[in-house]
Amino acid sequence: MKRNTLSPQTQAAQALHMLDRDSGAVVPAMHSASTFARDENYEKRDGFVYSRYGSPTTTQGEEIIAELEGGDSSLLFNSGMSATVAVVEALPMGAHVVAQSMMYHVGFDWLTRQSARGVIGFSSFEAGNLAALEAAIQPGKTKLVWIETPANGDWSITDIEAAAALAHAAGAILMVDSTAAPPCTTRPLELGADISFHSATKYLNGHSDLTAGVLTAREGLEIWDEILTVRSFQGTVLGGFEAWLLIRGLRTLFVRYKQASDNAMALARHFENHPGVERVLYPGLPSHPGHAVATRQMTGGFGGMMSVFLNGAEGRALAAAKASRIFIPATSLGGVESLIEHRHTVAGPDRGIPANMLRLSIGIEDVDDLIADLEHALEAG
Ligand SMILES: Cc1ncc(COP(=O)(O)O)c(C=O)c1O
Repeated sequence: MKRNTLSPQTQAAQALHMLDRDSGAVVPAMHSASTFARDENYEKRDGFVYSRYGSPTTTQGEEIIAELEGGDSSLLFNSGMSATVAVVEALPMGAHVVAQSMMYHVGFDWLTRQSARGVIGFSSFEAGNLAALEAAIQPGKTKLVWIETPANGDWSITDIEAAAALAHAAGAILMVDSTAAPPCTTRPLELGADISFHSATKYLNGHSDLTAGVLTAREGLEIWDEILTVRSFQGTVLGGFEAWLLIRGLRTLFVRYKQASDNAMALARHFENHPGVERVLYPGLPSHPGHAVATRQMTGGFGGMMSVFLNGAEGRALAAAKASRIFIPATSLGGVESLIEHRHTVAGPDRGIPANMLRLSIGIEDVDDLIADLEHALEAG
């Protein structure tokens, strides 16, 4: 059977049918070796030499993700940040980069810092605003356009196809941070992106027990070899054990994401008109400014990420975050357990994050328990 004729859901569930060749075990083996013996002709076996360049379990994880993304090849890193850092490091010295002002804040900080050091030029634009994106791009100078959709914070949506057209017209490549929209709902490469990026710490793994990042490229991407070189020099490749855990997580990606999306939709609808709530930002709600584009490019559900803005006295949101019993007061997203975060406290007052906002990562628990817990938290707040 030719594997790529199967639906991505089947490919994920069966981890590309990567049985352990020797034993027939239905779970891929986990390789932790740091070095690999040469064969009797002193040639490399399967191309493996030393684990900083790559190793069998990591390569298996990359093959599965490349297939799910519809890409040419994938590279796994030991965090989402190390993956995006590698892309920027692989650009020519002095290249101009365009990214959103509303994006994962550490990525934004990295770009700002590299720009201050004179390594790159950097301009930001308002997420979701294509006219602002076009204005920020410097044709001929901009080498990388980096969008994040849905974007961490307000879950604003950027039209990937339109962003790709703008980037390409100016001679730049488009990287999409699709962390909140894994390939069961969005496949950025099919919409014209050159690189699809995920913090695999989140939905791809789904169990909050590793940090990882992954880049997937379309065929023939020029910068790809340089990105691999940066990973090899820096030693930021994902280790065998984490890759093995990630493969296990990927097998349930589709059902986890669907359950999280269904739960989130029910929660968003319940709280949208709640007397204690000013506003719910969730791309699945028609009231979200990016809803129409999200409906087009998130075909497998809107995911579990939302922001809830409380009304009433200042301090209510922080009190609610402290009062929840099922929602866990922790950062991160995309795991099976629901998380609640008062980002104003976590990020500090200078970030412009409203004090009445709660960021929720909805998990796969019973939705009635989640709704009851948030009701209780709002009463306490
Ligand atoms: C949207 C997004 N991109 C990138 C990252 C960075 O990933 P990591 O924490 O795996 O380095 C995060 C982490 O929270 C994220 O939420």
